[in-house]
Amino acid sequence: RYRGVIFDLDGVITDTARYHYLAWKKLADELGIYFDEVINERLKGVSRLESLEIILEKSDKKYSQEEKEYYANKKNEYYKEMIKRITPQDLLPGVERFIEELKKRGIKAAIASVSKNAFTVLENLKIKDKFDYIVDANEIKHGKPDPEIFLNAAKHLGIPPERCIGIEDSAAGITAIKRAGMYAVGVGNPETVKEADLILKDLSEAYKILELL
Ligand code: G6P
Ligand code: MG
Repeated sequence: RYRGVIFDLDGVITDTARYHYLAWKKLADELGIYFDEVINERLKGVSRLESLEIILEKSDKKYSQEEKEYYANKKNEYYKEMIKRITPQDLLPGVERFIEELKKRGIKAAIASVSKNAFTVLENLKIKDKFDYIVDANEIKHGKPDPEIFLNAAKHLGIPPERCIGIEDSAAGITAIKRAGMYAVGVGNPETVKEADLILKDLSEAYKILELL
């Protein structure tokens, strides 16, 4: 029934969601703005500038567009420093095995990430070549929860959306998958991905996805 699987990157393939959090936390601490892991759940899957807007909700100060760009860039510098250390050992449990299994069954695989650092992360993980198609922030107009990025991936795989499965760790991402008309698999924090059709701890439980194929 399903012929394609479209993966989010951060928090699905590797735990860069943690690094995004730590980089934002460092910036928020410097600015004296309250920020915690509960607020962070809302940042998952959301673009850099939109993430900063959410963090600034807790600040009394008004920031100009220029200042916002400056701080978003500062967070990105912290983040880039952190992802330098990523190696293939940082793949989350079950990822490699699941992708191998998809290959064996002739199922196509793509990455749909709104991160401008997606290629660096994939390169450091040495996993780039395993995907039939990769779409990142440069190719889309609207970020998640807009379905554009998932529809773009399906189109390039040459598979109708209703025959695709999307995998996400963010609320915005699950909404995007559902709006694209795909089957949504949620991993990570079960509360965050509660709208998904299937919820897994991580891809070590991917056999449950294979049962759907
Ligand atoms: C992903 C992450 C978000 C991040 C966004 C932009 O969607 O889940 O936390 O804000 O990418 O990433 P970037 O690397 O471009 O700042
Ligand atoms: Mg994610």
